[in-house]
Amino acid sequence: MILVTGGAGFIGANFVLDWLAQCDEPVVNLDKLTYAGNLENLASLKGDARHVFVQGDIGDAELVGRLLTQYRPRALINFAAESHVDRSIHGPEDFIQTNIVGTFHLLEAVRAYWGGLQGAEREAFRFLHVSTDEVYGSLGPGDAAFTETHRVEPNSPYSASKAASDHLVRAYHHTYGLPVLTTNCSNNYGPFHFPEKLIPLMIVNALAGKPLPVYGDGMQIRDWLYVKDHCSAIRRVLEGGRLGEIYNVGGWNEKPNIEIVNTVCALLDELRPRADGQPYASQISYVKDRPGHDRRYAIDARKLERELGWKPAETFESGIRKTVMWYLAHADWVEHVQSGAYREWVGLQYASPSA
Ligand code: NAD
Ligand code: TYD
Repeated sequence: MILVTGGAGFIGANFVLDWLAQCDEPVVNLDKLTYAGNLENLASLKGDARHVFVQGDIGDAELVGRLLTQYRPRALINFAAESHVDRSIHGPEDFIQTNIVGTFHLLEAVRAYWGGLQGAEREAFRFLHVSTDEVYGSLGPGDAAFTETHRVEPNSPYSASKAASDHLVRAYHHTYGLPVLTTNCSNNYGPFHFPEKLIPLMIVNALAGKPLPVYGDGMQIRDWLYVKDHCSAIRRVLEGGRLGEIYNVGGWNEKPNIEIVNTVCALLDELRPRADGQPYASQISYVKDRPGHDRRYAIDARKLERELGWKPAETFESGIRKTVMWYLAHADWVEHVQSGAYREWVGLQYASPSA
């Protein structure tokens, strides 16, 4: 079996669902259930003996050690993290605790477990750390896309905490020989994406008749990857990745934010037109920019393609259409995640909406 951490969040839940749709190898899912963790994401697995959910912290080395000894997984895939840049600006401490200290304790527990394995079990074991392209910093308009050897230059408390965790993972390989793999992926989108992030926030606000807050001039560029393509990349790296290596994952879909927002609006105009016949884009509102906002990310994923034959299956056009349709079909999910805590965050972050 495999042990997944953070498997009740956006990417982790998609990964667990995809994994169990494709094979019968059981998954132990360790998740703290922070505001971003949601068991409703895994509701379709209710009663499925292949999925064991454990609520807990990756920083609890004793708990992790117990799970490892009890279940003897052949791999651990670490999704657990604080993941939202804007929240890291308002309050970096949780990011330091989970992404750095938590990853350290997780690595220690895994080192102790792996140290006790022998023969084929020891040879086969893998620790796969899921990271982000944001660790590489920001690109200028004409710069080449990030390769795995690009300098690590994180600019936000979130990306700095992820970069620190990547360094720890690397060090555990070099120092202790721990069989690690690291993936650095671009911005994901798709089902179960918490509506604090750009794409789901725009869909949810548009349908609620609320302003669509675009930071600064809206010309910041991100590379977008449909979440299921990220999941397939992780599976590929787990199967065939070379130990100690980093694999960049991306969709070759560089787009300015304003284009993303306009695409979402156009899809909603087509699929769920406003009652007054006006375009959703009329709700766009330019707001104050994010402090230290990275201008451009772009991922060069050729290593993953060359070494492991991975390519994304979705184009941006097909993926974003699927995503908008998913949100339209899951109004109950959206309603449930908009808890009191969610409304508090929106109140704090978007208190002074105009630019
Ligand atoms: P998310 O915020 O949606 O989910 C994170 C999950 O981790 C939640 O279920 C949460 O409850 C859990 N968690 C948080 N702290 C924990 C702790 N201390 N112990 C155990 N569980 C804990 O995040 P996501 O978007 O699914 O991202 C998953 C991973 O992928 C993160 O490591 C993130 O840095 C990375 N990543 C995300 C993106 C993206 O676009 N979302 C892109 C590249 C990489
Ligand atoms: P986000 O989804 O938070 O991901 P990240 O910051 O990790 O890339 O934001 C994606 C881009 O969208 C980023 O450039 C910030 C911008 N953005 C807005 O313009 N308005 C918003 O309300 C949000 C949440 C993000």
